[in-house]
Amino acid sequence: MAGARERVKVLREEIARHDFRYYVQDDPEVPDAEYDRLVQELKALEAAHPELVSSDSPTQRVSGAPAREFGSVEHRVPMLSLDNAFADEDIVNFDRRVRERLEIEGSVAYNCEPKLDGLAVALRYEDGELRVGATRGDGLKGEDVTVNLRTIKSVPLKLRGRGYPRVLEARGEVFMAVRGFERMNAELEARGEKTFVNPRNAAAGALRQLDPRITATRPLEIFFYGIGAVDGGTLPGRHSELLAALRGWGLRTCPEIELQEGVVGLLGYYRQIGARRASLPYQIDGVVYKVDSLAQQRDLGFVARAPRWAIAHKFPAEEELTTVRDIEWQVGRTGALTPVARLEPVFVGGVTVSNATLHNVDELHRKDVRVGDTVIIRRAGDVIPEVVRVIEERRPPNTIAPTLPSHCPVCGSDVRRVEGESVARCTGGLVCPAQRKESLKHFASRRAMDVEGLGDKVVDQLVDAGLVHDASDLYGLTAERLAELERMGEKSAAKLVASIAKSRDTTLPRFLFALGIPNVGEATALALAEHFGELAALQAATLEQIMEVPDVGPIVAAGVREFFDEGRNREVVDKLIGHAVRWPAVATGRSEHQPLAGKTFVLTGTLPTLSRADAEDMIRKGGGKVTGSVTKKTDYVLAGENPGSKIEKARTLGVSVIDEAAFARLVD
Ligand code: IVH
Repeated sequence: MAGARERVKVLREEIARHDFRYYVQDDPEVPDAEYDRLVQELKALEAAHPELVSSDSPTQRVSGAPAREFGSVEHRVPMLSLDNAFADEDIVNFDRRVRERLEIEGSVAYNCEPKLDGLAVALRYEDGELRVGATRGDGLKGEDVTVNLRTIKSVPLKLRGRGYPRVLEARGEVFMAVRGFERMNAELEARGEKTFVNPRNAAAGALRQLDPRITATRPLEIFFYGIGAVDGGTLPGRHSELLAALRGWGLRTCPEIELQEGVVGLLGYYRQIGARRASLPYQIDGVVYKVDSLAQQRDLGFVARAPRWAIAHKFPAEEELTTVRDIEWQVGRTGALTPVARLEPVFVGGVTVSNATLHNVDELHRKDVRVGDTVIIRRAGDVIPEVVRVIEERRPPNTIAPTLPSHCPVCGSDVRRVEGESVARCTGGLVCPAQRKESLKHFASRRAMDVEGLGDKVVDQLVDAGLVHDASDLYGLTAERLAELERMGEKSAAKLVASIAKSRDTTLPRFLFALGIPNVGEATALALAEHFGELAALQAATLEQIMEVPDVGPIVAAGVREFFDEGRNREVVDKLIGHAVRWPAVATGRSEHQPLAGKTFVLTGTLPTLSRADAEDMIRKGGGKVTGSVTKKTDYVLAGENPGSKIEKARTLGVSVIDEAAFARLVD
């Protein structure tokens, strides 16, 4: 009991401090998941020891006091929060509770919405005019941020159409789209100002700016998802219809909203949105299910601060805390040294992460990551995990800032830094086993020579055992030699020899890509192959001739020339061809069908069926060009859902804006 009392006290202080950092300073010290755990622990302790509950506990009020500088606004209808669910089972139980309370046999219709990671606001429209806008605050009283909300372009100052109630309090989420956030941070950084940790904090900071002129420069957006107080008017009977009505009055709603039936529908929605989470233009931390019938919502009512008719189904956190066990230097294919943080394993973004790249020595120093540090790890979508930042408050004493090694940790050769660049390279070249291993892994990879079964572990073994020095040695391997390797059975040895043999039949672009020429990726390899048609012609080409290849500049051309001028590289190429690595002749020149020849395109928004990469591919294949920003020279802006400011730019410049269907007709 005494222990519990003490722990409750510690937790309350800790939570209060995080609330201050998060809500008042917009500068949180720890990721949300860590904060949630503290609150969860406190709730559990208070449930087990009800006598310890006091009115000043963070569980007894929704945290966040209005800042002194803004006027305060009382919410006539309290702004509630949502219960959180993580497991499918929680949703099954939620749906069961709903049906039991409503005494319904069949399935319930739910309106499903992304749970936007921003700030809840309430906007009061009187006779169609925006009067007051407030933050959620503690749910009963918020801050008057009307002047700031008015600066958000997606907030209408006047409602459109007719039929809206005389008083309509529209509620929604203010947020910053990822692209706007990144652009803003880049600008802040260029001006030497402090950048924001994530879009949510950036949005919070912008909305609680005392100078609305600054707010106006920040790319804030809003999606409306509900209503508060309403006077004088009748509203539809379903939440989905209500959202449609809001949309009709000019109040923006999220385009991903869907109506679903029963648990199966809810979980299907959760998976579908989850799969697209990383590619949505804004950050979300889950989805929200709301009973669609407003009559049913009324019957269900509320418990404490959350409605019984809605629940938030959260995604696994994308940011987590862990500690750095070690910092090691990895040597890549081109000798580049990459610092990698070895971590105390942590579950983040749906997987267990134990390594995170620190990119390069400059990044390492900028973030000042040290062994023993507590760090925030981020893993979003399938992006490789990265260290967001160090929690300096938790740094143990006597840590040492890591430095770039002067010698390669693998082969001991000198490490050289290229003037003006952040890359440091091992100068060992083919002497360095790390570089040889990475070159071989690249050579064998799926998009290069596609040697099935030649994984990283086998490559390491082959190089360590001295069986393979360069790629050409692969083709001399026998099943007997291979079977000598540890954990390699006779069967898999025979299989590997067969797939190595099979890889000999390749294409020239694949072969060029597989060689690992500096700066020659798949696209450049293809361009080189199509331009020269055969390897000998490329090998014999002058620097100037190589630069005639579309999109090949002086740096790439010099890299290609240097690669083939190096005797050891030529030797490997000759040996490969000696081992009967071969490819069919390549047709040079452009294909006949070039409907987009000479046309310049800019892409914006999400297209209904084509991915961005597909669309870009089609444009290039059709002879067109893709650029990043709209200018007078742009021929078409290909726009999908949620387009950016590029549309407006196109309109002012008189550039044609087309959708996917019109694009398909152009290509045809
Ligand atoms: S409905 C009574 N819908 O989540 C229902 N909230 O945990 C109250 N949020 O404070 C909110 N997206 O800031 C609702 N589509 C959505 C939402 C959403 C994000 C936030 C909102 C709210 C918090 C509740």
